[in-house]
Parts: sequence; C-alpha cells; structure tokens
Amino acid sequence: MSDTCFKVSPGGQLTGRLRVPGDKSISHRSIMLGSLADGVTEVSGFLEGADSLATLQAFRAMGVTISDPADGQVTIEGVGLHGLQAPAQALDLGNSGTSMRLMSGLLAGQSFDVTLSGDASLSTRPMRRVVDPLLQMGARIETTTAGTAPLQVRGDTPLHGIDYVMPVASAQVKSCLLLAGLYAGGTTCVTEPAPTRDHTERMLSGMGYPLLSEAGQVCLEGGHALQAIAIDVPADISSAAFFLVGASIAPGSELVLEHVGMNPTRTGVIDILQQMGAAIDVSNRREVGGEPVADLHVRAAELHGIEIDPALVPLAIDEFPAVFVAAACASGRTVLTGAEELRVKESDRIQVMADGLQQLGIAATPTPDGMLIDGGRLTAGQVNSHGDHRIAMAFAMAALSAQGTIEILDCENVNTSFPGFVGLASKTGLAIEIG
Ligand code: S3P
Repeated sequence: MSDTCFKVSPGGQLTGRLRVPGDKSISHRSIMLGSLADGVTEVSGFLEGADSLATLQAFRAMGVTISDPADGQVTIEGVGLHGLQAPAQALDLGNSGTSMRLMSGLLAGQSFDVTLSGDASLSTRPMRRVVDPLLQMGARIETTTAGTAPLQVRGDTPLHGIDYVMPVASAQVKSCLLLAGLYAGGTTCVTEPAPTRDHTERMLSGMGYPLLSEAGQVCLEGGHALQAIAIDVPADISSAAFFLVGASIAPGSELVLEHVGMNPTRTGVIDILQQMGAAIDVSNRREVGGEPVADLHVRAAELHGIEIDPALVPLAIDEFPAVFVAAACASGRTVLTGAEELRVKESDRIQVMADGLQQLGIAATPTPDGMLIDGGRLTAGQVNSHGDHRIAMAFAMAALSAQGTIEILDCENVNTSFPGFVGLASKTGLAIEIG
C-alpha cells in the first residue's frame, strides 16, 4: 500500500477550461504499433502516465529507439514487424493490464522468449482469457497455476489464425488476438458479444494494415506491413469522466473539457450521466487521426437515479467508479447490472466502491454483477482506494458534495492514468491536498 493519501475538503465548485491528459488506451497502442511499423511514428498528446510509460520502457528494452516524452510528443523509430530484439530481463509492466494482455499476443509471435511481470494488483488479474485463445493459435505461454502473471511467453513458435468467439466483451482480449494475428498464418477472426473499444482496429487501418470489420466481428490476415503515421492522441474520456461528475454534483460549476476522445465505443458515460439528468453539451465535433474528438461543456445539474442499460456497460466500463459517485449524489435509486467485469479491474471495483460509499453514509449494496445505490448526502469519512487510480479520483470528486472532509488512502497509482490530477483538479476548484 502506498503512503500517498488525498484529503479533500467539502464544497466548492469546478470552473474553467481544461484538457485532461491523453487517452491511455490509444497511448499504449501508439507505442506498440509505432514500434512494429516501418518508418518513424510521431505521437502528440501521449499520456505520460506510469501505465503507458511501462509500455514505452518495454519496447525500449526490446531495442526500439523511442524519444523521452516531452509535453506529450514522442518519436518512435519503428523496427518493422520482425525487428524486435530479446530483452535482457523480464518486462515489468507495473499496474498495467492493457500492456500485459496486448503484449502477450504480440510477443507470442516473436522469435525470442520473454517474461511479463507486474505489480501485486496485476499479478492477481485473470490472464487465461488471453492465454487460452493464444494457445489455440499455437502459442506457448505459461502462467501461474492460478492463471495469473508472471507470463512466460515462448518465441519461435508458428502461430495460425483462429476464429474466436469471446466469452466476455473485452477489447484487451480482442486486441491481443489481433496483434498475435499479425504474426499468424492464415486469418484470425474475433467475434465480440458486445461492442468494445476499437482503437486497435482504427490504428491498424490508419497504418495501412488490411482488416475486415463488420457485425461484431473483426478479421485480419498475418504477414502484411504497418506504415508509420502521425498519431494525435485525444484527451482521455475516462479521465474527463471525473470532471463531468464533479461539475455535475457541485452547484455553480461550469467546465469545458477540450479535445476529448469521442469514439462511440467509449462514450457510454455521457449517455449514462445525461440519462441521470446531467447537463453535458457536446460541441466542435471533429476527427483527428481516425478518432472522433469534441469539446464537452458541463454544468451542475440535479441528478436522479436510473436503471443503467446493460448495453452501455462495455461502453463505460472504466467510468463506473465516477458513475457510482454521481449515483450517490442523485435523488432516488440507481441500479447497475451486467457489470461483473468490474470485479477484475485494478481492484474489485464493485466491492471497493460499495465499501467506500457506505463509509460515507450512502446505502450502496453490492451485487454479484453490479450495485444498488440509494442517493443521499455524503458524510465526512475515510475511504481506501486499494491502489486503484480511478477509485481514488472518483472519491476525490465526491467531496464536492460531502458534508465534511474525505480522506482517501493509497492514491499513488493515480499516476498510472492521470499524472498531474491533483494540480489540475485544484486549479479548477477542488480543495484537494496530498496528505
Ligand atoms: C482497455 C480495455 C478495457 C479497459 C481497460 C483498457 C484497452 O479492458 O477496462 O482500462 O485499452 O483495451 P477490457 O477489455 O478487459 O474490458
């Protein structure tokens, strides 16, 4: 457990214009695909957070020349699909599930062996969801007996395409298999039970890789090449979500969030909050490098509880900690179902959020696949984020509408996705201090 804790005084409002850091999912993919491309990929808006930096370091360790990120600018000297070299040591991916799951597929197709390890949280997260289909493709990968990291990925193993129907809606599994598919003989097809983020497909296409995507299925053939491109990473809607909720629950708030990624596989949080009565206007819609972006204008509003449509769950999967805080501040009951995946994120987000909300006097009842929350008035109190970045930031915003100070334990990992959160949040009006 880290020593970093947040103390957030109650009240205040959020005002101003801000651009939150770059999208984490797209930042990871820019390093991975930029490394495998022919030519030099220039990235702007790159997220300089611990997770995407773990991916960056891993590719450096495999011989790719990547500049030090400066103000979101990164230059990647692509080595081509077959140019990676064996790293001298195990690749430590820290807290980052995206790095581990996507790289397990990509590395299964290399000529060398590699070990992937992570921190205590990542070492408990399920990896069989990627390892099992990779084994079907011919890969050789070992996990612990619990199906967790460290992963030993054996190289020099011919892969062949498979037609895989995913049992869970997971962009990480889909992307893992597509990346393995780049190295596989024949065609790799992945069918998803519900739409999940499609950044991998968009970036592959943008780099000229032929790929067929229709009706919930995406297919590609191994052996084509990737051409380097310029990548403009939009602001992360998952980071913007904390400010959407904070501004909604704090009377007098008015914020503009600039250049936010609006990929339709990611915008479920806007739909959910609008259904709860949030005042969010989307303007200046445009496209940058194959990804839609827009500016979001949010004002405080009276929120009310809703039954969240399970179809929105994969489209808002990372935003539920923030949505739960909105629900706690809303009138009436909010019901979430169909979200059992939340139990295997950076923490068990159902249990940890329910515990924290109860600690703050809210009737929050965890269920196997979701939560019931009866909105009320948050009291002062101490909550534990269990090292989960999004839980820490969600509870920080909750203070805007609480009766007393909220103290949040174990907040170091906020740096995984949102470096500078405390500074940006205090600049917009949150009374937050690092304790
Ligand atoms: C991600 C996919 C999602 C998400 C994670 C990032 C990605 O995970 O929760 O934060 O970049 O592909 P799942 O695909 O496991 O749902």
